[in-house]
Amino acid sequence: MIYLVGGARPNFMKIAAISREFEKFDISYDIIHTGQHYDYNMNQVFFDEFGLKKPLVHLEVGSGPHGEQTGKIMERFERLCLDERPDMVFTVGDVNSTMGAALVAAKLHIPVAHQEAGMRSGDKKMPEEINRIVTDHISDLLFPISPKDFQNLYAEGITENVHLVGDPMIDNLLYYKEIYACDHTEKIILVELHRPANVDDPKNLTEIVIALNQLAERYHVVFTIHPRTKKKIEEFKLWQYLDMVDHCDPVGYFDFHKLMNQAGCVITDSDGIQQETSVLNISCLAIRDTSNIQYTIDHGTTQLCSPDRVELFSKAVCKYHMNEKSNFPKQLKDLNDGKSSERITQIVKGYII
Ligand code: UD1
Repeated sequence: MIYLVGGARPNFMKIAAISREFEKFDISYDIIHTGQHYDYNMNQVFFDEFGLKKPLVHLEVGSGPHGEQTGKIMERFERLCLDERPDMVFTVGDVNSTMGAALVAAKLHIPVAHQEAGMRSGDKKMPEEINRIVTDHISDLLFPISPKDFQNLYAEGITENVHLVGDPMIDNLLYYKEIYACDHTEKIILVELHRPANVDDPKNLTEIVIALNQLAERYHVVFTIHPRTKKKIEEFKLWQYLDMVDHCDPVGYFDFHKLMNQAGCVITDSDGIQQETSVLNISCLAIRDTSNIQYTIDHGTTQLCSPDRVELFSKAVCKYHMNEKSNFPKQLKDLNDGKSSERITQIVKGYII
């Protein structure tokens, strides 16, 4: 029995793709939901849209400071692992649920697999960077998504059982392509932001929303607002700067991808969206100092931008009018072929037998 552990929004697309292949290859698995995200549009909507198996257990950890949230995940997941002793704990991504589950399993000598291994920003102020480093160094089976991530692991001395396979998130993107593809007449600018460096900083968030409102005077700007970002907009009293922007709560996967398909430019700080836009040849502006997904800058459609109203406005205008095409070299094209989960499944099968 393999436990596929997830808890935050970006985990569920990956779990969907991997679990489809586990089913095809007759691998018995259960989903363990940590409850890190709990609003309908941050978790259950994906179970409904992808037809995911109901979680075996819901740990209901909810939000909280990092230590408290990770501690609750560990305490509750450990109890389950002690009782049930799964054959493997399979973790995805870089959220607190990833690291919490991996730590529990490693200490109980249960094999740990980590999908998205080796991703690094070089910035230890990002909670995800700590989660990635810890998880990679205690995992038994590692699945980097890009050649750069593979090299990062080698540079840290992690050389055993490392398999460069691509990203299940892209499998999911391609699997559902027909559902969200839509004919559209209007081109929009789509915005999704949630990184603490952007949204927890009053100056940065103010600069960003002012730029968005200026863009909205010329273009249709759709801003799907993450709960963290919404709280900060309220706390810093910034709604007044969003009066021209078409904003809403987070939307489900299919609706989000319909919007993405309509976008002349996507403004984001999400890693996953940088990858998805590059695969779909949609312009992407990442409000980040560095990208963990360097290949989307080198060969894709991502450009970095600082949280500065003038820079953001001018870069977004340029990006909106560009008809971009990624120029992935063959290796990246092969890795983004929609078969990453199949490769993972074959390796996992060989490992646990
Ligand atoms: C988490 C991940 C981040 C990931 C992001 C995707 C960590 C360290 N961070 O960040 O890597 O990219 O998810 O969304 O694991 N909240 C709600 N409803 C929810 C979930 C959260 O209202 O369903 C609110 C909470 O009040 C919380 C805030 O949003 O204070 C932030 O949630 P949290 O899970 O702590 O971090 P994210 O910013 O979502």
